[in-house]
Amino acid sequence: MIRNIQTIIPGIATSDGAGVKLRRSLGGHQQARLDPFLMLDEFSSNDPNDYVAGFPAHPHRGFETVTYMLEGHMLHEDHLGNQGHLKTGGVQWMTAGRGIIHSEMPQQVSGAMRGFQLWINLPANEKMKAAGYLDIQEENILKLSLVNGSLVKVIAGLFKNESDVIVGPIQGITTSPLFLDVHLPPNTEFEHHISKQLNAFIYVYEGELEVGNPMRAVPKQAAIVLDEGDFLKVKAGAVGAQFIVLAALPLHEPIVQHGPFVMNTRAEIEQAIDDYQNNRFVTL
Ligand code: CO
Repeated sequence: MIRNIQTIIPGIATSDGAGVKLRRSLGGHQQARLDPFLMLDEFSSNDPNDYVAGFPAHPHRGFETVTYMLEGHMLHEDHLGNQGHLKTGGVQWMTAGRGIIHSEMPQQVSGAMRGFQLWINLPANEKMKAAGYLDIQEENILKLSLVNGSLVKVIAGLFKNESDVIVGPIQGITTSPLFLDVHLPPNTEFEHHISKQLNAFIYVYEGELEVGNPMRAVPKQAAIVLDEGDFLKVKAGAVGAQFIVLAALPLHEPIVQHGPFVMNTRAEIEQAIDDYQNNRFVTL
């Protein structure tokens, strides 16, 4: 069954960090989540005033952050001593677990900075696991060119069609996330199986796209939450389309969020605040 559009969550202009301008779709308010996805931000600007201040040191607990750079260069540093350069086409998959304090600072003072940050929830029994992170450079992300000229980058999970199976560099995560970046030439179609157990959405960041059966045009820069079904079917408009596809297993657990801490109960949030304020994130 082809998945149709269930809800459209527009990306609302806001700012975060030390004043980085971005568009927040998922996570703009509590009802705008899609279990296990907590938040999706797109940052996109050619004006350094919109991004140079970056994201100075700040904490996270209880979930994973995924940063996908379309264009630009940021330096990641965390309290565990990890350091990584996020560059055009690269991905950083960070498991905040029981606590991380990190910064993400632009390494450029001009030019375009563009990409996404996605927050994926962790199940209750993994929220306090050790923090960790994976830095995946552009050259380590497999790209598949399809016969109709389409290009698929597989960041997490698995892409499969009649002739190819491509496995992304991110594996072994409990929520089984699928993360694709798809580029379609004008007027081409794209189909992909997405297991019906997964919650799924797409986000068009360039061009024009129609989704579902019957096909319906969707807005750019919005999270297009997909309905039940096991098949994604889309078609690019006259200028082509570029979009990301996200899907993962829902957790069906209570969520209590306080800024960068996402736990299951109010008491766990109080504990997170207390641990952070008393410097226990660095000793846990
Ligand atoms: Co962060």
